[in-house]
Amino acid sequence: MTAPQRQTWTAGSYAAHARFVSDLAGGVLEWLNPKPGERILDLGCGDGVLTEELSRRGCQVVGVDTSEDFLNAAISRDIDARYMDGQALTFANEFDAVFSNAALHWMRDAEAVVKGVRKALKPNGRLVAEFGGHGNVAAITTAMRAVAKARGVGHELTGPWFFPTPAEYRAMLEQAGFKVSRIGLFPRPTPLKSGMAEWLKLFRRPFFEQFGSAQESVLAEAVDLLRPSLCDSQGNWTADYVRLRVEATT
Ligand code: BEZ
Repeated sequence: MTAPQRQTWTAGSYAAHARFVSDLAGGVLEWLNPKPGERILDLGCGDGVLTEELSRRGCQVVGVDTSEDFLNAAISRDIDARYMDGQALTFANEFDAVFSNAALHWMRDAEAVVKGVRKALKPNGRLVAEFGGHGNVAAITTAMRAVAKARGVGHELTGPWFFPTPAEYRAMLEQAGFKVSRIGLFPRPTPLKSGMAEWLKLFRRPFFEQFGSAQESVLAEAVDLLRPSLCDSQGNWTADYVRLRVEATT
């Protein structure tokens, strides 16, 4: 199994530069269609913005995450937020639904996640999730690979993510005993109000830190490589996000 991945997000900088993550969750919330009284696990709850929304809709919600800073932010919203690795869930037969937005791509041991979710759900429970799918941030990752290669550095730190195709994820879910009701991949070009450099620093800090004192110039070079494809003539940046959205039942 992959080692537990303690996340080191800073809730303040996430809110400043990545609020779009929860702002763009309308579609997956619609798929979840939460009903008052349902017991729902928010897997990878982050700072709890969506967990709070579920609670506002009358659900009994538990959020789990591995970032202390996020958990503190979620707890300050009065959420039952707990430290737990999504790859080692310990719930059994407890939830009507497991919901997850923009988190599953951080959990490399996806089979362990799926097994844990299956076990956490009651009979006729459902998993409704959206996360990065195959081809997500492909240009961004390729730019990081290029600047690393130019310096004789490997690409290991370019992306620690799980971005499956629908066919791969369906097979994994079915193997774990789920019935997949709907699954699809869709491009979701995502405007970056704070620009590309901020995105790279927020999401790929370890990649740039490996270059030590050269990290600022490596960052500038990656941004320059990306400008022709992801920045418009007015200087507005868009990230090449591709989402996988899924609903599966037990
Ligand atoms: C995403 O939400 O697709 C994503 C977030 C961080 C890094 C890469 C992708």
